[in-house]
Amino acid sequence: MRTVVQDLPGSKIREVANAGLGRDNVLAFWFGEGDAPTPETVRAAAVRSLDAGETFYSHNLGLPELREAIARYASGLHRPIGAGRIAVTSSGVNALMLAMQALLDAGDEVVAVVPVWPNLTAQPAILGARVVRLALQSDAGRWRLDLDALQEAITARTRVLLVNSPNNPTGWTLTRAEQQAILAHCRRTGTWIVADEVYERICFADGAAAGRPACAPSFLDLAEPDDRLIVVHSFSKSFLMTGWRLGWLVVPEASTASFAKLIEFNTSCAPVFVQRAGLAALQDAGSSVAGVVAHLRVCRDTLLPRLEAMPGVSVARPEGGLYAFFRIEGTADSLTLAKRLVAEAGLGLAPGSGFGPEGEGWLRWCFASRDPGRLQAGADRLAAFLRL
Ligand SMILES: Cc1ncc(COP(=O)(O)O)c(C=O)c1O
Repeated sequence: MRTVVQDLPGSKIREVANAGLGRDNVLAFWFGEGDAPTPETVRAAAVRSLDAGETFYSHNLGLPELREAIARYASGLHRPIGAGRIAVTSSGVNALMLAMQALLDAGDEVVAVVPVWPNLTAQPAILGARVVRLALQSDAGRWRLDLDALQEAITARTRVLLVNSPNNPTGWTLTRAEQQAILAHCRRTGTWIVADEVYERICFADGAAAGRPACAPSFLDLAEPDDRLIVVHSFSKSFLMTGWRLGWLVVPEASTASFAKLIEFNTSCAPVFVQRAGLAALQDAGSSVAGVVAHLRVCRDTLLPRLEAMPGVSVARPEGGLYAFFRIEGTADSLTLAKRLVAEAGLGLAPGSGFGPEGEGWLRWCFASRDPGRLQAGADRLAAFLRL
C-alpha cells in the first residue's frame, strides 16, 4: 500500500458517530445531510427507468438530455453555459476527484482555503500533491478571507486553488469582489481554480437579484468559457439526493474530451436510472429548491438564536450551507468534547478538528432537520450540558 494511503486520517465525524452507535435517544446532527427523503417525483423517474430496463452502460459524460438540462439550469443562474462544458459525475466527491486527477501531478502545489470538508484536501494528498492551507479568519462573529494573504500564497508555482463557497463547515461565502480579485490573480499566475459550489443554492443572502433565483456568487458569473476554471456540483444538497451519488462538473470546453476519458477509467458513467432521477429533479428545480432553501432558513433561524443566546458560545451566522459552526469557550479538544456530548447529553455533533487544525476548538451542527423542534430539543440538551 502507498504510504500516503496508509497514512490517510480516518474521519473524525465517523469516530463520533461510532461512539453513538447502539445508544438510544441520541439527537444526531453530525452528518452533512438532512432527514427528508428525495421528493416522490424524482424517485418515480428512477423507478420508471428501471422498469423500462435502463440497466446498461451509458455515455461517459452523461445522457445528452441531462447535460442539456444541466446547462439550461446553470445558464439560468449564471452566464450562458453550453452542454459541451458539462460532465455528469457519480457524485460531487467523484467530480472533485476527477478534477484533481485532471490537473495534479505528484509534487504539485495546491492552495486550499480552510477549514473545509476534509475530502477536498485529502484528494490532492492521495495524488501526491502538496497542500498549502490558507485559513479563514473568524472576526467579530464573521468568517473572513484574508485576500492579501491568499494572493501572496498563490504564486506561479501554484497549480490549483481549491475553494469551497458557501463553505462547509463555516457557512462563509465568497463575495463577488473577492471572486473577481481571485480570478484576476489566478489568470496572472496561471493557476487553475477548482471551485466547489455544491451549496450555491443554499444561500441566505437577502435580496436575490430581481427575477433570478437565489444563488451564492459563483465564478461562473465572471469567468470566460476558456478560463482555467473547474466548477464542482452535486445533486445531493439542494435536491435532497445524497444517497443517489450524482453530480456534475463545468469545465472549459477544450478539456471535456479529457474528462470523458478520465470518467471511463473511474466509473465509466453514472447509472442511467440515477441520471433520469437527476433530470426529473431539474425539471422541478424552480419550486423544489426554493422550498428546500426556505425550510433551511427556518432551521437556521431556529438554531442560531439559541446558540447566540448561550453565554460562552460564539457562532457566526452562516451565509450559506447547512451548518452552524460554533465554539464553546475553553474547548481545546473538539473530538473529546463531541464524544462527551454524545455520551452525556445525547447530542451528536461533528468535531471542528475533522475539518483541519484550523477547526480545532469548534463544533459543527447540521441544521437540516424536517422538524425544527428537533433543533430546539438539541439546543436544550446543549444548554443543560453547559449548565445554563
Ligand atoms: C463542500 C462539499 N463538497 C462536496 C460534497 C460532496 O457531495 P456528494 O459527494 O454527496 O455529491 C460535500 C458533501 O458533504 C461537501 O460538503
